[in-house]
Amino acid sequence: MNIPAHSRDLIYTDWTLIEPHFDPKQLRARETVFTIGNGYLGTRGSFEEGYPQALPATLMRGVYDDAPVIYTELANCPDWLSLVVIVNGERFRLDRGTILHYERQLDLRHGLLKRSVRWRSPNGETLDLQFERFASLADRPVLGLRCQITPIDFNGTIEVQSSLNGYPENQDFEHWEQLGQGKLEQGIWLQVRTRRSHIELGMAAKIAVIGTNASFQVANPPGYPSLTATFVVTKGQTISVEKVVTVFTSQETEMPVQAAQTKLAALSSYALLLEAHQQAWDAVWQHSDIEIEGDRTAQLAVRYNLFQLFISASSHHDRVSIPAKTLSGFGYRGHIFWDTEIFMLPFFTLTQPAIARNLLTYRYHTLEGARRKAAHRGYQGAMFAWESAATGDEVTPKTSIPTDPYAEAVRIWVRDREIHLSADIAYAVWHYWQATGDDDWLRDYGAEIILDTALFWMSRLEWNPKQDRYELCGVIGADEYHEQVNNNAFTNRMVQWHLEKAVAVYDWLQHRFPVGEASQNENHATALAQKLQLTSEHRLSWQAMIAKLYIPYDVETGLIEQFEGFFQLQDIDLNDYEPRDRSIQAVLGIDETNQRQVLKQPDVLMLLYLMRDTQAVHDHPDTLQKNWDYYAHRTDSTYGSSLTPAIHAILAANLGAPADAYQQFMRAAMVDLEDNRGNTEDGIHAASAGGVWQAVVFGFGGIQLKDSGPVATPQLPPTWTRLKFKLHWRGIWHNFDLAPSLPQASDSHNPDIQGFIFDLDGVLTNTAEFHYRAWQQLADEENLPFDRQANEALRGVARRDSLLLIVGDRSYSEAQLQEMMERKNRYYVESIQTITPQDLLPGAVALLDELRQAGIKIAIGSASKNAKTVIEKLGIADRVDAIADGDSVTRPKPDPDVFLYAAKQLGLEPAHCVVVEDATVGIEAAIAAGMWAIGLGPRDRVGAAHIVLPNLMGIHWTALQSKLDRLSDGNGMAVHLLAEQH
Ligand code: BGC
Ligand code: BGC
Repeated sequence: MNIPAHSRDLIYTDWTLIEPHFDPKQLRARETVFTIGNGYLGTRGSFEEGYPQALPATLMRGVYDDAPVIYTELANCPDWLSLVVIVNGERFRLDRGTILHYERQLDLRHGLLKRSVRWRSPNGETLDLQFERFASLADRPVLGLRCQITPIDFNGTIEVQSSLNGYPENQDFEHWEQLGQGKLEQGIWLQVRTRRSHIELGMAAKIAVIGTNASFQVANPPGYPSLTATFVVTKGQTISVEKVVTVFTSQETEMPVQAAQTKLAALSSYALLLEAHQQAWDAVWQHSDIEIEGDRTAQLAVRYNLFQLFISASSHHDRVSIPAKTLSGFGYRGHIFWDTEIFMLPFFTLTQPAIARNLLTYRYHTLEGARRKAAHRGYQGAMFAWESAATGDEVTPKTSIPTDPYAEAVRIWVRDREIHLSADIAYAVWHYWQATGDDDWLRDYGAEIILDTALFWMSRLEWNPKQDRYELCGVIGADEYHEQVNNNAFTNRMVQWHLEKAVAVYDWLQHRFPVGEASQNENHATALAQKLQLTSEHRLSWQAMIAKLYIPYDVETGLIEQFEGFFQLQDIDLNDYEPRDRSIQAVLGIDETNQRQVLKQPDVLMLLYLMRDTQAVHDHPDTLQKNWDYYAHRTDSTYGSSLTPAIHAILAANLGAPADAYQQFMRAAMVDLEDNRGNTEDGIHAASAGGVWQAVVFGFGGIQLKDSGPVATPQLPPTWTRLKFKLHWRGIWHNFDLAPSLPQASDSHNPDIQGFIFDLDGVLTNTAEFHYRAWQQLADEENLPFDRQANEALRGVARRDSLLLIVGDRSYSEAQLQEMMERKNRYYVESIQTITPQDLLPGAVALLDELRQAGIKIAIGSASKNAKTVIEKLGIADRVDAIADGDSVTRPKPDPDVFLYAAKQLGLEPAHCVVVEDATVGIEAAIAAGMWAIGLGPRDRVGAAHIVLPNLMGIHWTALQSKLDRLSDGNGMAVHLLAEQH
């Protein structure tokens, strides 16, 4: 789209995520971010008016259809959003006319997505548009969309064309055949069916226009029924167009299109539907909310992740589970991984147990598929599919087909070798049972899952007579960088644990439902034993296997070897490859990575996390620290797997390093909000979202689940003043309201930082644009060649030197130069009068406040002569103790004078000051002043700084402090707190 980019970052309030500008470059990632849903379906945040580059999608739980290579995928369902507003013949689009105001908001508390736009059409007519949409949580087949239109400066005719799109695509693939369509009173309907899985879908929609009389007209082009409302508007009048949609599939009812029409006819008003929806959300948050005080970014991010998890889980259906990318994108095609059981499930088990039960029952219903997979591979029992969909048959693609026509296809081994999944599912089943005491479910569903997969392990384990032990060879562990290994500690121990629980469940069934005592149909132990052909012999074998299953653990060093031979592989120092924007596997290639001691994601550490409540881990309390020290920094935690940061956060918190934990935690919490891996457009990182919940509860809350109930040992991140959440444990709600542990007795930090000096432009705010426009106007008037690119060279450069750069060889008298500087300044001063607190860059205020709270003095050190005005307009004058600006000193940056002047004003020694700068000359000046330097921006610009950050978003004083501590211990090399943004 050819629209000027107003790229700005998101704004976070306690409950609302705000996108203050429209940035076409982020169109698809933001469609993911603004996904709404209700567990029945998810709808990406695509715009109602439609754009060629957009990836609109509505994905419904369980609506899979066959597709080449990937076997099956969630079919993109008919698009219910389409709503086109035509103003006096001119169609509203963000890439035409002028956007005078834009704001999009996701209200997490009430599951409501809103957009407000003030738009001037190419004809010069201005109007306000307020969009709002929701997927009803109170009544799941119901969707609501409203558009309020207010003409600001014209009278005229408006047409609103509202459609159902029966030709939605899955990235070029079409899943639907059209069965029918038609019109209703002020409404339309559509009936379609998936081509291969034959799932029928019926959708119906009606429109109400409120505030004026409208005429309606239906058009029925094939697959695209449309209803157009036309009305006359006068200046200042607000008209509401309400579109209400119903949708059913043949998975719920035999005649979905009739059901959709009947439901639609019976619906109450938009306002009442919305109210019921909001009440349903209130009930969700009553149990599942997490409150954080002292850190608004984390507060919003945590709620955001929980929101996305919640809207992808079905509370009404037990034949579906949550795909790795939820219902928010096409990544992994709607397939289901261990992500659900290991990463997402604890949130549900402990705050929404009915949903957890549904998710696990899905695995029960897919046991037949798991049995087919085991039989196909020559094993007994049930072997769950690495990637699963409707039936439980293996749907991991066999190869990944490169787009380059001459490249070789890459074999995907995980489908054959990543076998730990069956034990992961057993793990989740057991923990659900422990947390809920749901004996009926264990008896009727869970036991069969645990026992039939135990039968699979029995046939999969290999006896090694030479070593007198059981082994598992040729596997892939949790870490997928090593594609064929023997005796992976994670897999072996998970299997051993699984067999232990299989014995326990077997005994429990015998004990609770003994033969002869129960009535025939209650005699589950016997019935299940017969079904699975299970005997006490099996139980004996399991015990033997438990006793002799090999776990590569060295008692001397306390180290667990990830798999046999791992310690012999070539070592790696990941720092040698920084900075990078892709995985180490992408850098080194698959084969080379296989040969190195580098991990895609935690493996031994994942195991220690999952086994945290077992005796063996309790008996060796330093095992975690030792293995952490070995494995954490060999893990590709930035671009390897998004599953890593949350787990590292938990372990770091448990090891008593909350500042480090916090950094990892924020990486997980912001993965989609900041698109920090660059693939948010594919869908929400759901495992990471579940990991975020676990990091708060098990990491910072330090929750341990004991028989007597959950117990907290909080390790709050330094800025958090309060943490509240609830856990449901064995029928009782436990409320946690945690405060930070007492401040550490000795608070001695190495570099004793007492002051921060901030550059203004590009650091706290962006007046660069105003400067640029003023220079551009001057250059145009003088006929001097100048553009945005040339402007880059002026970053941080004082006014006179900037002018000289623009002027180049052209000769001017001193008087002329003076006049030009004044003229530019006049243009600039005029424009900065429009600055407001909104113009503060994200993260700035939060950091200023934290620094003040920590007793640190704050100064501004800017080359600008208008710094005072800008600071006042930004509303931060009362947060600043001193200002050093272009009038304070004569020699500009890179001379250190401006910073030295600021330090003097603060009454501080240079060595106790930190400078935050975005310009090369500014970093030079800070270092020349003998101060610590934090550079914001790319390394080629600010790489000389001690710490390099993309910007101030999510940056906390404590995190900076621990970095500075470490730097002053070491050699003062530049470090990267966060990877650079793209
Ligand atoms: C990870 C797996 C994960 C999958 C789906 C892969 O990159 O290595 O552990 O299950 O993504 O999220
Ligand atoms: C993931 C595997 C997944 C495969 C195919 C890989 O990138 O790491 O876990 O099964 O893609 O979808």
